[in-house]
Amino acid sequence: MTSMDDAEYEEKVIKTVDVERENIELELLLQGMHRFYGHDFQNYAIPSLKRRIWHFIHANQLTTISSLQERVLHDRAIFDRLVHSLSIPVTEMFRDPELFLAFRKHVVPILRTYPYIRIWHAGCSTGEEVYSMAILLHEEGLYDKARIYATDMNSQSLKQAKEGIFGIEKMKLYTKNYIEAGGTSSFSEYYTAKYNSIKFHPFLQKNMIFAEHNLATDRSFNEFNVILCRNVMIYFNDILRDHVHGLFHESLSRFGILVLGSKESIQFTKYGNSYEIIDKTEKIYRKMN
Ligand SMILES: C[S@@+](CC[C@H](N)C(=O)[O-])C[C@H]1O[C@@H](n2cnc3c(N)ncnc32)[C@H](O)[C@@H]1O
Repeated sequence: MTSMDDAEYEEKVIKTVDVERENIELELLLQGMHRFYGHDFQNYAIPSLKRRIWHFIHANQLTTISSLQERVLHDRAIFDRLVHSLSIPVTEMFRDPELFLAFRKHVVPILRTYPYIRIWHAGCSTGEEVYSMAILLHEEGLYDKARIYATDMNSQSLKQAKEGIFGIEKMKLYTKNYIEAGGTSSFSEYYTAKYNSIKFHPFLQKNMIFAEHNLATDRSFNEFNVILCRNVMIYFNDILRDHVHGLFHESLSRFGILVLGSKESIQFTKYGNSYEIIDKTEKIYRKMN
């Protein structure tokens, strides 16, 4: 072996040891959070979880995952901030407008045949997706017979969702999305603007129910005609993804509709054969058995 080889070998060994230590520290942190606070991140996809945790460590002037564990277990406020930063509450109104267009085309005609509609937005974040759905159902004359259940594990996001107040600077993009999503009215009719924010009209909130619900640890709580869970399971590993699909399968009524995010799919999960594809590109599925 040349001396160059020795250096390379040593570097490789050090890297392996570092990764092993990092994995042990991460495992202990996640176990501690689950046992002490009941929040279970143990089956989240490791690479993005590690990235988020390191970002949080640096932002809080800490140096190791173990030092974060010590802080988290002794300070509820740090834990809450960590959960918020691990929850990735990125969202927008009529996000992926083509999905809402496809929903109008394929799902609305089915919903028209029902006397009563129950919809679940799982992982609703700050609520933009929920207000988008309420507007769509209102325009299709379906909102009065609908109940929208919107859940998330992030209590901070839910608080904002319930208030229905959003930054005015986003309205340009949201108006564009609304039009592309097949909006039939004028988007500005749905809110009033004050200083730097807008508030949606209360009639949109009347059939919305917001509640804290953790997909990893909580059970099914009702039967639904439609479940939307978009851009949530991309952060989960296969075990948790299958678990959540089990929860949705149990919670959907016969011929119920499942909507996933653009980078997600029911294929290659345990429940792939239980659904027919309604729109492959927009990830709309219908439970068949
Ligand atoms: C990227 S946002 C998606 C929001 C919205 N569905 C959309 O597509 O615009 C992901 C949301 O999933 C929520 N989430 C992540 N893990 C969750 C869990 N185990 N249970 C419930 N919600 C969870 C996060 O708190 C976050 O608000």
